[in-house]
Amino acid sequence: MSATCVIGLQWGDEAKGKLVDLLTEHHDIVVRYQGGANAGHTVVAGDQTYKLSLIPSGILNPRVVSVVTGGVVLNPPSILGEIDQLVSRGVQVTSNLMLSDRAHVIFPWHISEDRAMDGSVSGGEAIGTTQRGIGPCYRDKVGRAHAIRLGDFYRPDFRDKIVHIAAAKNRMLPVWAGPDAAPLDGDAIYNEYRVYGERLKPFVADTTAYLLNAVESGKRLLFEGAQGALLDIDHGTFPYVTSSNSSGVGVSSGSGVPARWITKIIGVVKAYNTRVGGGPFPTEQNNEIGQHIRDKGNEYGTVTRRPRRCGWFDVVAARYTSRLSGVDVLAIMLMDVLSELPTIQVCTAYEIDGKRVTDFPSQLEDLRRAKPVYESLPGWQTEITGVRKYADLPPNARAYLARLSELVGRPVDVVSVGPDRSQTIWAKNG
Ligand code: IMP
Repeated sequence: MSATCVIGLQWGDEAKGKLVDLLTEHHDIVVRYQGGANAGHTVVAGDQTYKLSLIPSGILNPRVVSVVTGGVVLNPPSILGEIDQLVSRGVQVTSNLMLSDRAHVIFPWHISEDRAMDGSVSGGEAIGTTQRGIGPCYRDKVGRAHAIRLGDFYRPDFRDKIVHIAAAKNRMLPVWAGPDAAPLDGDAIYNEYRVYGERLKPFVADTTAYLLNAVESGKRLLFEGAQGALLDIDHGTFPYVTSSNSSGVGVSSGSGVPARWITKIIGVVKAYNTRVGGGPFPTEQNNEIGQHIRDKGNEYGTVTRRPRRCGWFDVVAARYTSRLSGVDVLAIMLMDVLSELPTIQVCTAYEIDGKRVTDFPSQLEDLRRAKPVYESLPGWQTEITGVRKYADLPPNARAYLARLSELVGRPVDVVSVGPDRSQTIWAKNG
């Protein structure tokens, strides 16, 4: 029995997709357990590039079953678009894809609400959501009265539910979005979503029962986190977070598989930090260093193409999220992006109101006032994209990795030096 989890420890976009792709061949089932079409990853397989958002990259391996659990919020046209893209390029999408009948569904009103509400966070600064309706759909899930799950599509009262909710939303939308908000047509939405439901039907299942049977019978599971732990709704930089448990704590609640089955947790970080959207970011480099990292790392959002904010590696944050997520080992990605820099800074502590702090603040206002305390390390200033063994990395690159590992308190298992599968260094291979 084994269950491995791949968890982002920063603000998302840690290149988890590449790692999941590499680990897939050693697993039977790949599980996506939270988030929605706000996440995105690009998978390069042979000469083909696939852009996936909801469907795990395990789908490219026909031996593996890809499962989207009830912790995910599903946007039917998005997932059908992904299925069509895959099928048109010869990828098998049949019984190797399962979608939970418990998954909550994103409807057009969620997207309107996301657009209308994002600018109105108390405190002024917008969250800067991906505007995919994620937050409003999770809000309706918790509120229950206006929620629709995938399993509801196949019940006789599906039309009534949609018409009832659309009428309620029509009363509320003008309050949020102003009097010009376009009214929702419940019947038209029903007719559109009924067709989506028919197309999705072959994939819909009770994935909780499936996964429980799978772990109990010795199948190897790989849990693929979306976003990063600092965006966790309960433990991240609230309210500048996403609406699900994107840290390691979300694996069990999102999938229904108890934590006792988890055997290995890999925490994924970049060799630096990035953030998309609003909220404090103590080590942000809004200068030529940040721009250099953005250019070298192609730091633009996969879903929204927004330029990502870039900065130095933040140990205070990474140590917190690796403890929070129960991380066993680290994977350090995009190491090659730093190769040209003569000096690299690492934030080892914060100074808040004159006090040195090494525990990540629970309050946003403290994080806003945090001044990073840096340690400077010499850069390696050598191309490393062709390196395949840890021992062949330049001494300063090894010293940087060793220092990150020491400060975060976890061993480094994997180092990525480029986007290709082959550009991966496994510590166990020397
Ligand atoms: P939402 O998830 O669309 O509600 O957006 C909430 C916050 O999470 C915003 O700051 C987004 O930029 C951020 N976010 C959501 N998904 C991702 C992701 O996959 N990578 C990085 N940031 C994300």
